[in-house]
Amino acid sequence: MQSQHLYDTGTLEKEINMSKLKGKVAVVTGASKGIGAAIAKSLAAEGASVVVNYASSKSGAETVVAAITSAGGKAVAVGGDVSKAAEAQGIIDAAIKNYGRLDILVNNSGVYEFSPLEGVTEDQFHKVFNINVLGVLLTTQAAAKHLGEGASIINIGSGVSSLTPPNSAVYTATKGALDAITGVLAKELGPKKIRVNSVNPGIVDTEGTQSAGFIGSDFEKGLVAITPLGRVGQVDDIASAVTFFASEDAKWITGERVIVGGGLR
Ligand SMILES: NC(=O)c1ccc[n+]([C@@H]2O[C@H](COP(=O)([O-])OP(=O)(O)OC[C@H]3O[C@@H](n4cnc5c(N)ncnc54)[C@H](OP(=O)(O)O)[C@@H]3O)[C@@H](O)[C@H]2O)c1
Repeated sequence: MQSQHLYDTGTLEKEINMSKLKGKVAVVTGASKGIGAAIAKSLAAEGASVVVNYASSKSGAETVVAAITSAGGKAVAVGGDVSKAAEAQGIIDAAIKNYGRLDILVNNSGVYEFSPLEGVTEDQFHKVFNINVLGVLLTTQAAAKHLGEGASIINIGSGVSSLTPPNSAVYTATKGALDAITGVLAKELGPKKIRVNSVNPGIVDTEGTQSAGFIGSDFEKGLVAITPLGRVGQVDDIASAVTFFASEDAKWITGERVIVGGGLR
């Protein structure tokens, strides 16, 4: 009698070929660069067809799409400002038009502007809240009509909502709001078997944090000094956590926020 082994060659090959997101369709907002670009590539590598959204960097989004399609995946670049209802709707419509369904929404688009209390302005407040909070609500509202049992929404929050660093009142407030929205929507969409979770990165080396001057700054050094794993995050560190939450591996997890930051608290 031939002995059966859990990880014999046939079983292992079968498992390797079973991409976790095969047949699924994902929208990643703000995927022209940084964390969003890595998330789009990671979801595509697991078999998802991906709408790669951008606001201004069309060529960045097209580069991400080219990387995915040249590796045999499916992706399309779609412009749209998440803070405008019609454009948020257009991003979601592109998923339906191109791929016929929607299973995964990653609300990644975000801007950060740090300033001390005396530097807070009405314009800054409305700009950052419109993109980081209203944008998530508008995009999720448009997506929810198409999402069904087993769908997953992942909000990219930030470790700042736990750390509350100085000079970040507006930005940190947006991410605190996002934590709250994740909890609310997990309850609201739970009856439809749609999961909603937050992935809250610690400091990550991206185009955004580089141009904001965070990378290489004393702020970064201070954060790394209190990070148990002792380094700055890389975009792949965040993308793999998001891909887990998008997959069936996380089927019993909703309403959670996870800090993905090398132990930074
Ligand atoms: N990097 C970090 O250390 C860190 C830490 C914690 C949390 N986060 C969060 O992670 C997310 C991504 O950060 P990142 O560092 O990767 O940022 P990034 O490099 O600055 O990229 C931001 C992305 O958001 C898009 N975007 C900006 N405004 C938009 C709008 N109105 N509509 C649609 N897309 C818009 C940009 O598109 P265009 O380029 O096309 O304009 C770009 O693709 C943000 O939500 C951020 O708050 C980042």
